Amino acid sequence: MKPMEVTATAHPNIALVKYWGKRDAALKLPAMPSLAVTLDGFVTRTTLRWGARKDRVFLDGVEAAPGAAKRVLDLLDRFDPGRPPCEVESRNDFPTAAGLASSSSAFAALALAAATASGRGLSLEALSVLARTGSGSACRSLHGGFTLWRMGVRPDGSDCHAIPVEAHPDLDLRVLVAVVDEGPKALSSTEGMHRTALSSPCYPAFVESGEPLVRCAAEAIGKGDLLGLLTFMERSTRLMLSAMWCSEPAVRYLKPRSLALIDEIEAARGEGLACGWTLDAGPNVKALCDAPSAEALASRIRRHGVRVHVLGVGGPARVEVPLARP
Ligand code: PMV
Repeated sequence: MKPMEVTATAHPNIALVKYWGKRDAALKLPAMPSLAVTLDGFVTRTTLRWGARKDRVFLDGVEAAPGAAKRVLDLLDRFDPGRPPCEVESRNDFPTAAGLASSSSAFAALALAAATASGRGLSLEALSVLARTGSGSACRSLHGGFTLWRMGVRPDGSDCHAIPVEAHPDLDLRVLVAVVDEGPKALSSTEGMHRTALSSPCYPAFVESGEPLVRCAAEAIGKGDLLGLLTFMERSTRLMLSAMWCSEPAVRYLKPRSLALIDEIEAARGEGLACGWTLDAGPNVKALCDAPSAEALASRIRRHGVRVHVLGVGGPARVEVPLARP
């Protein structure tokens, strides 16, 4: 069989209404719906050789550790149990496993590369389902723009995928990623959410908040109501962080500098900038703001000695068309 090589790219996404907890761990079915924005600027580029000599996985230029390679190969096996050996090379142009959503773009790019290289075209919904089985939040990185990850009702998870959310044309957002620490996190999101769901008395309140907050946030995006969106995003974030903190032992990714940045963003809002903050499974703070506020907010954040990426709303996952040889 002639090997087929495909390169796919995807952008990570940041949740505005959070997912933290599963109702089915094996299928990665969430206990709540969530809503996210895809980021431009950060990219995962994944090349898949379908029909290589043997299975091999390279992440950021080095052969992957067995656990990380298994997650990649498991997705390919779920996609096609009779697949040929595959070589996967995946690179991020931003820090990996540091709460910057690198797994969301990685598994979205992998799902698209696998479907394309195998010659089996999949719908966006089916690709989103496949990406979800690698990392839950990856299902939200196929469409681009704003996406809502619906819970679905089928036990096999085939209707548990992301759908696009229509944004008002005047909603011109920027996402500022303030890098407090770009090292890999000590506790994986899989373990952190499992512990939270098992032991946190605040977890039920967070789960219950998901559905109404997703509805309100989607409505705010459709109306171009940035201040409303910021309110719902911060509420969802605080509920998730509270649930994490009340776990036994506590799930805590925050660092003192993360809190200083939250203070800074809230102070900037008090002085009239349209901005709000969110965090995920890491100490890095993301600020959401309108385009005119982005530079002023970025320079306020930089005064705390952290690097800031100013990103816009990213597009969908894509297959790269190889350049024609002369
Ligand atoms: O899909 P995972 O396992 O990387 O979990 C992502 C969890 C959060 O980033 C904290 C929230 C979210 O909805 O993306």
